[in-house]
Amino acid sequence: MSSSRLNIRIEPLANPRPARFPEALGFGRYFSNRMFTQRYSPEKGWHDAAITAYQPLTLDPASAVLHCGQDVFEGVKAYRRADGRINLFRIDQHMARFNRSAARMGMPQIDAALHIEAIKTLVGLEHEWIPTQPGAALYIRPVMVSSETTLEVRASQTFLHFIILSPVGPYFGSGLSPVPVFISHDYVRAVRGGTGEAKTTANYAGSLLATEQARKNGFQQVLWLDAVERRLVEEVGGMNIAFVYEGKRISTPALSGSILPGVTRDSILLLAPDMGLEVSEDRIDVNEMLADIESGHITEVFAMGTGAVVAPVGQFRYKDKDYLINGNQTGPVAQRLFNALTDIQYGRVADPYGWTQSMETVDATAMQRSASA
Ligand SMILES: Cc1ncc(COP(=O)(O)O)c(C=O)c1O
Repeated sequence: MSSSRLNIRIEPLANPRPARFPEALGFGRYFSNRMFTQRYSPEKGWHDAAITAYQPLTLDPASAVLHCGQDVFEGVKAYRRADGRINLFRIDQHMARFNRSAARMGMPQIDAALHIEAIKTLVGLEHEWIPTQPGAALYIRPVMVSSETTLEVRASQTFLHFIILSPVGPYFGSGLSPVPVFISHDYVRAVRGGTGEAKTTANYAGSLLATEQARKNGFQQVLWLDAVERRLVEEVGGMNIAFVYEGKRISTPALSGSILPGVTRDSILLLAPDMGLEVSEDRIDVNEMLADIESGHITEVFAMGTGAVVAPVGQFRYKDKDYLINGNQTGPVAQRLFNALTDIQYGRVADPYGWTQSMETVDATAMQRSASA
């Protein structure tokens, strides 16, 4: 059987597992029954699109991705609405970022409409894997890796694109709770002109040592400073960062070329003014920012990203000194923004921004019947 425009071959499942979720889903620990794959070569372009059983990839040990790390990925969520339909949040923005990342990494583009079609077909078939517990969602992970068998240091000629799905729990068990963040002075994540604004694994690999060291000291995340002066605030591990001044103005680091342009960040910059909050994108000096926390001008700090949506920061440590933010309590601005965004994502309120694409489930048996008719 095959689906319409992208001509996806959909293989029947031999042994589908029932979608049952443990109480604590965590993040990225469980995967649905099926995955999407397609391949690229200069002669054929993208071809061989298929939805198959979720299975290990077979990679030659000399596959370019294992040696040069030429790869990109995305992270986007499908939300189950109360009426049973499924919402995809700003999927077009994620697909656009995927292509920008691919361009930066010297990789081919994927037609955004066809990429969305592949995601919708896969999610539609796997809709039972969208968890319904409050705050849970189905995390969609599209990935493109270089697949040519070569040890030469150059861009690959062939690529593999795959999409997997993982039911994920809420980032915070019940209600938002502030996280402690370590500000790294010794290590940097990315430098202007480098790959920091692309979603490629190298950025994450280089951040793991500092993050592990921070974790051992009780910090959940690392806040990165710019790589040149080690003075300007950039972003937190897998999230962007924002500072609330006097409870009414949100300031976030301006995109510098080494910061990942987050879809959640962009949504908050668009949403907050409609909630009566001022927003600005600034060059934020770490010492001035910490002084503003100490003087009380900064009333809240929060991180923003697809995983947690909004994560309040309750404490910073920088050069052995601790800075407590809002008494380590979730502030009203972070809470309001979290509520406003998640209400749109789960379809609890109308979406005046056109951010959500609501989709139907796909009946695999009906597709099989129509394909063989
Ligand atoms: C380094 C980094 N910054 C920021 C973000 C937040 O981006 P988004 O809001 O699109 O999830 C992410 C997550 O994708 C990230 O990995």
